[in-house]
Amino acid sequence: MKKHRVFVTRMIPQAGLDLLAPFCRVEVNPHDKPLGREELLRLVADKHGVIGLLTDHIDAEFFNAAKELKGYANYAVGYDNIDLTEASARKIPVSNTPDVLTRATAELAWALLFATARRIVETDRHMRSGNWDGWGPLQFIGADVGGKTLGIVGPGRIGTAMALMSRGFDMRVVYASSSGRANQVLDDGLGALNLSFDELLRESDFISIHCPLNQGTRHLFNARAFELMKPTAFVLNTARGPVIDEQALVRALKQGEIAGAGLDVYEFEPKMADGLAALDNVVVLPHIGSATVRARTDMAVLAAENLLAMLQGRPPKTCLNPEVLA
Ligand code: DGY
Repeated sequence: MKKHRVFVTRMIPQAGLDLLAPFCRVEVNPHDKPLGREELLRLVADKHGVIGLLTDHIDAEFFNAAKELKGYANYAVGYDNIDLTEASARKIPVSNTPDVLTRATAELAWALLFATARRIVETDRHMRSGNWDGWGPLQFIGADVGGKTLGIVGPGRIGTAMALMSRGFDMRVVYASSSGRANQVLDDGLGALNLSFDELLRESDFISIHCPLNQGTRHLFNARAFELMKPTAFVLNTARGPVIDEQALVRALKQGEIAGAGLDVYEFEPKMADGLAALDNVVVLPHIGSATVRARTDMAVLAAENLLAMLQGRPPKTCLNPEVLA
C-alpha cells in the first residue's frame, strides 16, 4: 500500500506520530523552532497532509504551494491562523483540537488569577532577591478572590470550564458573548448572569478572556474598555493576544485604571509591548495554556486521528469546514 506523505511543522508528542506511522511517510520539522516561510512552503509542496501550529499562516499562498494537499490538521483549538474560506473554496478539509485542552487552559486562567491577585510572582522575586526582612502586617497586600465577581468574556468550552471551577470560591459569575446567547450550564449551575460587554466590564473584579480572535474581537479590550473596568479589577488572557490592545493595556496599568493583568498570550507573539515587562502588576507567561502532558499528548493524538481520517476519505472528528466533505 502506498503511504500518504505528511509534514508536521514542529515536533509534537510522539503518540501522534506513532498513529500516523503505519499509514504515512512522516517528515517533521527538524529544528526546534518555527520554520521560515520559504522553507515551510518548499517542504509542503509534495505533501498530502500537514499538521501545523498556531504560528503557521495557512492562507492562499500556503495552499498554492501545497498542491497535493488533501487535509490540514491544526495542532490548536484556535484557528485564527487559517484562512478557512480559502481552504473551503479549494475543498480542503481543516480540523482543530477542541475539548482535549479545555481543562488545562481553564486551570491556567486560574493560576493567572491567583498569581495576579496575590502577587505571587512579584513576591517570589522579592524572596529570591534576598531583600525580605521578615513578616510585616502591611507587606504585599493582595486582592481577595472569594465572594468577588468573575466575568467571563466568551463563555464557550474553556470559558465555561473556567467559570465552573469558581464553585469553591463562592464567586458571583457573569458572562458576555458576541452572540448574546444564554449559557444554560452557567445559568443553571452557578446562577450566572448574561450581561452586555460594557456591563461585564463595570461589574467584574476578575475578567477572564476566552473568546476566539476574529474581526469582532480584535482589540475588544482597548483604552475605552479599560476605562470602564474597576480600578481594583484584573484582566486575564489565555485566548489570543490581539483581543487586547497591548499598548492601551500598558497605559491602563501604569495609570492605575485597572489593578493588574495576567497574560499567557500577546498581540505580537513572541514579543511583548514596550513597558509591559517592567510592570510589577503583570504576570506574563509564554503561551502555556495547554502545556500539560495530558493535553499536549491528546492534542497530538486528535490532530493525527483527524489527519488520517481526511487522508483516508473519512470525516475527521473535529472538522472546521464539514461542508467540504459533503
Ligand atoms: C490553542 O490550542 O489554540 C492554544 O492557544 C495552544 O494550545
